[in-house]
Amino acid sequence: MNNSALLSFLCLFALLHQSLAASPQFNVIQFGAKPDGRTDSTSAFLAAWKQACSSTRGVTLYVPKGRFLTRSMLFKGPCRNSAIFIRIDGTLVAPSDIWAIGNNPNWIEFQYVNGVTISGGVLDGKGAPLWSCKLAGRKCPTGATVQQTLGFSFCNNVLVSGVTSLNSQMFHVVINFCRNVKLQGVRISAPGNSPNTDGIHIQMSTGVTVVNTKVATGDDCVSIGPGAANLRIENFACGPGHGISIGSLGKNVNEPGVQNVTVKSTTFTGTTNGLRIKSWGKPSNGFARNILFQHATMNNVQNPIFIDQRYCPDRNCPDTVKKN
Ligand SMILES: *[C@@H]1O[C@H](CO)[C@@H](O)[C@H](O)[C@H]1NC(C)=O
Repeated sequence: MNNSALLSFLCLFALLHQSLAASPQFNVIQFGAKPDGRTDSTSAFLAAWKQACSSTRGVTLYVPKGRFLTRSMLFKGPCRNSAIFIRIDGTLVAPSDIWAIGNNPNWIEFQYVNGVTISGGVLDGKGAPLWSCKLAGRKCPTGATVQQTLGFSFCNNVLVSGVTSLNSQMFHVVINFCRNVKLQGVRISAPGNSPNTDGIHIQMSTGVTVVNTKVATGDDCVSIGPGAANLRIENFACGPGHGISIGSLGKNVNEPGVQNVTVKSTTFTGTTNGLRIKSWGKPSNGFARNILFQHATMNNVQNPIFIDQRYCPDRNCPDTVKKN
């Protein structure tokens, strides 16, 4: 073979290889999304998701550089494939009008999806107007109109990698009724005085791993609720924030426990708490079992280790069993 024959053979091979191997890619721009930070791109994202979810083979949904304004979006499964890869080079921005975000449980919500990866990108929750409303004691939106930034419910096999969440209105990431979820290289950031901006909340889920992650926020860096099992947190930094907290548990009489939790190689800096387990002081079959906290570094932490079996946040807990 001479050189040009070799070259055309290689080109043909490359083309063939690409058409066989490359999964379809949907760029949100093709669906009408505008990277200008002003145009509402909600329906473009939802249309791209519809295509991705109905594809019978793995697909990539691509969000290029730029700022994309979206109201709340429900990415609902079940999908026809179990390999949806969402690659974000840009920033998703929530509306700054606190009454306008939408009516889904979360700003960016995945439900009943099996096999989804979110890689890269920034999620800007625009929480500041809601926090100042709350801090000023004004009448603020409540219920479904206030949003967690990124939620997964009833999802399996989820990977969130290299994603940054800024200034969530409420919690940044919520994992609820899921199996096999991994968060790696995630950055979460909100001011230390922003109310109810928990970093990562995990409940009713099994097989959740959080590694190489940093949370700076105004509430718990990680909060672990009833029904969390087989959870591993490793190489994790918290501060400012309220620490890593199991509970509050035991709010209900019948409640699934928290079990098999490993939290190791953590650093807490300027936090109110470090490692905490809290339960209400009233009858419940809830429990925390097989919990390992190991290799924690505490810098300027008010309560490095805090185990509270009479949790009573507002000093007025009528349900609590009273001492006679
Ligand atoms: C917790 O770990 C124990 C011991 O490894 C295991 O038997 C049990 O099934 C785990 N719990 C759950 C809910 O997976």
